[in-house]
Amino acid sequence: MQYLLGVDLGTSGTKTGLFDLAGRAICAKTIEYPLYQPANGWAEQDPSDWWHAACDGIRYVLQKSGINAAEIAGIGLSGQMHGLVMLDKDGIVLRNSIIWCDQRTTNECVQMNKAVGEKKLIEITANPALTGFTASKVLWVQNNEPDLYEKCAHILLPKDYIRYMLTGEYATEMSDASGMQLMDIAKRCWSDEILSKFNIQKSMLGKLYESPDITGKVHRRAAELTGLREGTIVVGGAADNSAAAVGTGVVRAGNAFTTLGTSGVIYAISEDVSIDLKGRVHTLCSAVPGKWTLMSCTLSAGLSLRWLRDTCCSEEMREAETLGVDPYVVMDQLAEKVMPGAGGLVYLPYLMGERSPHPDPYCRGVFFGLSASHSRANMIRSVMEGVAFSQRECVDVFQEMGITIAEMIACGGGGRSSLWRQMLADMYGCPVSTVKTDEGPALGVAILAGVGAGIYDSVESACDNLIGKKNIQNPNLATRKVYEDYYKLYKQLYADLRESFKNLAKLPK
Ligand code: XUL
Repeated sequence: MQYLLGVDLGTSGTKTGLFDLAGRAICAKTIEYPLYQPANGWAEQDPSDWWHAACDGIRYVLQKSGINAAEIAGIGLSGQMHGLVMLDKDGIVLRNSIIWCDQRTTNECVQMNKAVGEKKLIEITANPALTGFTASKVLWVQNNEPDLYEKCAHILLPKDYIRYMLTGEYATEMSDASGMQLMDIAKRCWSDEILSKFNIQKSMLGKLYESPDITGKVHRRAAELTGLREGTIVVGGAADNSAAAVGTGVVRAGNAFTTLGTSGVIYAISEDVSIDLKGRVHTLCSAVPGKWTLMSCTLSAGLSLRWLRDTCCSEEMREAETLGVDPYVVMDQLAEKVMPGAGGLVYLPYLMGERSPHPDPYCRGVFFGLSASHSRANMIRSVMEGVAFSQRECVDVFQEMGITIAEMIACGGGGRSSLWRQMLADMYGCPVSTVKTDEGPALGVAILAGVGAGIYDSVESACDNLIGKKNIQNPNLATRKVYEDYYKLYKQLYADLRESFKNLAKLPK
């Protein structure tokens, strides 16, 4: 038998999934690790935690499934985007990774706009200067830790660090590299102009591949640590969102998905490069060779609900433990008892600042309309609705750009909640479904590995054969009407509060 392995390096943990050639999950293991927040709005992780999680996860699925490592035909890597991993000339990690949701680089974004010009930066990199993307993080280290930058010989993205540890290769692929803001997105190559304006040597960056290309082979030391066979091929793989697209069959123009993970992402395929000059949503290279992607990213989707769970819902957590279910199931049941509109409570999900459609590092979360009659149930529903409103606001931008979304796939942890999916259907006004094999990015990169290994002809044909839909939920017109009014208010609140958020940022904390 032959199998494919997908390793997805997420923010809360790394998931390793073993799949057969029909895309069925044979075994999976997620290993968690911490997120460090050394200051308000900062976010870092330790690359060695990622590597240990990958090693332990791979060992686990090999042992648990009982398959022979020689039966693995290929490995695909997926991961959280934009994180900055810096290595010295010997490949040793120089500092913790500054990850995607870190917001410390406001000054560097101003510096980037000055160096390149706002318009030109968008024209080349297809995105405005963003605190979340990698380039501003590199400049932050140049500006604030010059001695450390001096020692930096290699700049990698999170999943590409795992590739380096597995194969010894410094390499990346289009879908993730497009989120570094160092590429010419239309030409699918590193931009010499941008690199020279930011004083970054091209030799520091990984070699660029298309996602299904073979980038290297597992070396002896990694084979010893993971239990893999030395020489197993590792393909480019993809950024977590692009990998999720492949794993949910979103590989052709008109296909789209919403992920409610830590972040909230809407992702649609486009055959051409189409750029929002206002910078509200991203244009990136797709994991499907020769295609592009429109993507929005809100920073605190699942994170908002996790925050509410951890700060306010200890009672629900205890109940869940007694019932032997996930705390989110109990929270969902509570939220379901509250009417749409959460009893007049509106939540703005800006716990980590925001990216789409408001690139704004200063904004913060808000409960608007809180009253003594409200309970935790109202708050849970309001958080879920606020996150759904933020996705709807991004869909409006896609539509403005001429992208029609006739049907949406929902995925990520939040996509498991039928209540949350119904909110999306009601707010988008289109059917929302899930996929039969809900293995997301890990399956996506396993499929890419299968294409690289020559098992499948193309990404598109593999998806046609392997991915099926289920749980179709249609919009409820009465609820949609209620949400339309709340949505208008939701949008107005950000406009009203934008300046106050800036003032809040200036106050001592
Ligand atoms: C996308 C983004 C997040 C991360 C987290 O631009 O920053 O979705 O990839 O997984």
